[in-house]
Amino acid sequence: MLGFTYYTPTKVEFGKGAVEKVGALMKQFGGTRVLIHYGGQSAVRSGVLDRVKKSLDEAGIFHVELGGVVPNPHLAKVREGIELSKANGVDFLLAVGGGSVIDSCKAIAYGLAEPEHDVWELYAGQRKAKACFPVASVLTIAAAGSEMSNSCVITNTDEKRAYDDDLARPRFAIMDPELTMTLPDYQTEAGCADIMMHTMERYFVNSGTMELTDALAEGLLRTVMHNAEVLHTDPHDYDARAEVMWASSLAHNGLTGCGSDGGDWMPHLLEHEMGGMFNVTHGAGLAAVWPSWARYVYKNCLPRFVKYAVDVMAVTPGATDEETALAGIAAMEEFYHRIGMPINFKELGIDPTDEQIAEMAASCARACGGAKGSAKVLHQSDMEAIYKMLK
Ligand code: NZQ
Ligand code: ZN
Repeated sequence: MLGFTYYTPTKVEFGKGAVEKVGALMKQFGGTRVLIHYGGQSAVRSGVLDRVKKSLDEAGIFHVELGGVVPNPHLAKVREGIELSKANGVDFLLAVGGGSVIDSCKAIAYGLAEPEHDVWELYAGQRKAKACFPVASVLTIAAAGSEMSNSCVITNTDEKRAYDDDLARPRFAIMDPELTMTLPDYQTEAGCADIMMHTMERYFVNSGTMELTDALAEGLLRTVMHNAEVLHTDPHDYDARAEVMWASSLAHNGLTGCGSDGGDWMPHLLEHEMGGMFNVTHGAGLAAVWPSWARYVYKNCLPRFVKYAVDVMAVTPGATDEETALAGIAAMEEFYHRIGMPINFKELGIDPTDEQIAEMAASCARACGGAKGSAKVLHQSDMEAIYKMLK
């Protein structure tokens, strides 16, 4: 077990009616002039936006609002948020939405804290942030885990880049599972795929054993798989919504990586290129990428793939470890299909040309600083080969 830093400063208010606590929490954390940031229309339609505004009003907290964040959030909206916040003296960013809205808030928060710099420099890897305004969220989709994570993913034209920094970890997160009941099934299941992948990225490593961390990871994965199937048939099952929502935060707040080498992260990096070029739903893109990535790397990380097959996918061990590992990957594909998730480009609804594949591999290699991975270190030629396996 390797050494680690575990830092989760986010206060969580979880359960039915938690939204009504937002005014009091904002006061507790010192927000006096708040930008409420949201996405398309879901937060308006569900009434959650009005509930948030009422609670802030009751606490006497000034607020302005900015909607229109799209999935795979854009830098242009971030810039708009920075200008609006400056004009209104905003001192706290409140996201009402999912990963896209929270990430847009985090980026605005970086931009406000260091107005002398262009915020994109962080995502382009040109500097590290020295400060960040406070961020919090009212979560409406269980997926990205941004509500407790140090990560922030922004798209500039077709370049989708992540910047990770503890400065942006949210101060508080309000999680009412009932808010997720209006999600379309595809978004619910893509969210489950993303939650699982945040733990799987930390699980498929070559850095040795971690008994407790593995047990937490495997329990989380089995829980999400079970409840993803429940929600596929009964989207109004409160307990299933609650399990998945709590898992979304624990999968990406660092807990399931304590003691590992930091994780693999290549499925995510490969997917980010697909999101940047084709605007696919993040979790669905991950489901599509994973089986090909797994078949490409499993021999280099065999003990973990065998453990995964047996302890998570309940596969009966085969005659050889390779057989068991491959059976685990096949079982994962069957699970993705059972919850309506894709396992290749065609099922994801895209058809990249060979030139586009080469472009994505080159861009991915740039984002990785040349090469990356723990299950197996991948270079540009490996990335291109994996994309080709998805065809
Ligand atoms: O825009 P609205 O109308 O709100 O619709 C959204 C959006 O279309 C809808 N939605 C959200 N809550 C809803 C709802 N519809 C009905 N009822 C509700 N209660 O769901 C759609 C997807 O929303 P989005 O915020 O994009 O989803 P998600 O949470 O999956 O976030 C995806 C983004 O997060 C990034 C992804 O790359 C992607 O850009 N990630 C961020 C991470 C982080 N910061 O830690 C880690 C992740 O690995 C991920 O990369
Ligand atoms: Zn993700």
